[in-house]
Amino acid sequence: MTRHFLRDDDLSPAEQREVLDLAARLKADRFAERPLEGQKTAAVIFDKTSTRTQVSFSVGVADLGGNPLIMDSKNSQMGGKESISDTAKVLSRMVEMIVWRTYAHAGLEEMAAHATVPVINSLSDDFHPCQILADLQTIREHKGELAGLTASYLGDAANNMGQSYLLGFATAGMHIRVAGPAGYHPRADIVEDARRIAAETGGSVTVTEDPVAAVAGADAVITDTWVSMGQESEKAERVATFGAYRVTPELMAQAKDGAIFLHCLPAYREYEVAPEVIDGPQSVVWDEAENRVHAQKALMAWLLAQS
Ligand code: CP
Ligand code: NVA
Repeated sequence: MTRHFLRDDDLSPAEQREVLDLAARLKADRFAERPLEGQKTAAVIFDKTSTRTQVSFSVGVADLGGNPLIMDSKNSQMGGKESISDTAKVLSRMVEMIVWRTYAHAGLEEMAAHATVPVINSLSDDFHPCQILADLQTIREHKGELAGLTASYLGDAANNMGQSYLLGFATAGMHIRVAGPAGYHPRADIVEDARRIAAETGGSVTVTEDPVAAVAGADAVITDTWVSMGQESEKAERVATFGAYRVTPELMAQAKDGAIFLHCLPAYREYEVAPEVIDGPQSVVWDEAENRVHAQKALMAWLLAQS
C-alpha cells in the first residue's frame, strides 16, 4: 500500500523512531540509501515561496540517487486549469514521489487520494510535518532520548507549526506545551488527536495563554513567525497581538538551564525572537535547518520502502 506523509501522525510512534534513526545514519553516511538510483524523479511543487524546503529536497533527492523536478504551480496547469486528481494521476505515471507545499490541506488529501506514489506535505496552512522531523532530530542530538522531554512553542499556536508540534512531539512521547493569545490556539480536533497519542506514548499536551508558565523548566523553547505565508494582510493586527510571546533572554531564563532554542526559519528578530536568543549560545537553528536534508532523506527512503 502506498504510504503518504501529510500530517505528523501519519507515522506511528515506532515508525517515527525508525525514520529518526535512519536520519541519524544518513547524516553520518550521506549516500547510505539510494532508493532513487538511476535518476528516478521526485516532483517537488511549490505554491508558496521557500529556501530550506526547496534546497533540502533538491539535495536530498539527488543524494538518494534521483532527480528533483522543482515545479512552480504558477508555471504549470495545476491550480484552476487542471484538477488536483488529474494532476495526481498524471504525475504518478511519471515520477516516484510527489512533494507539495500548498495552502489548503484538503488539496494534499485529494492529491494523496488519487496518487499511486507517496505524497509528502512540505507545508500546508495546517501542518509542516517535515520540519517537525528535523526538529526532533535536532533535539535528540542535543538532549538525547526524546520521550519525557518538555518542549514549549510560543506565538501563533493556530498555525502549521503549532499544530504540527502537537502531533509530532506527542508521537515522540514528549510533553508539548503551546502558548498563544486567545483566538490563536490550535484546532480542537488536533488537540484531541495529540492528547490521544500522548496517552499512548507517555507524553502530554498543554495549551495555554501564559507564555511564562509554558516555558517554565522546559528543555526546548521554540517559536515561529507571527505572520505566516498567506496572512500578510493581517500583519499589523498580529504584531499588536503577539508581543507577550516574543522569546527574549528573560523568557529563556525561565526554561531549564541549558535549554535549547529552535525556530524553523525564516526568523524576524524584531518580532518573535530577540537577536540575543537566536544568535546566542542556546540557539540550535542552524543544526535544525541542516537536519531538514537528513530527516527528509530518511522519510523519503522509508516511504519508498513501504510500497
Ligand atoms: N522552514 C522552512 O520550511 O523554510 P522555507 O520556507 O525556506 O522552506
Ligand atoms: N508558519 C510559517 C512557516 C514557514 C516555514 C509559514 O507558514 O509561513
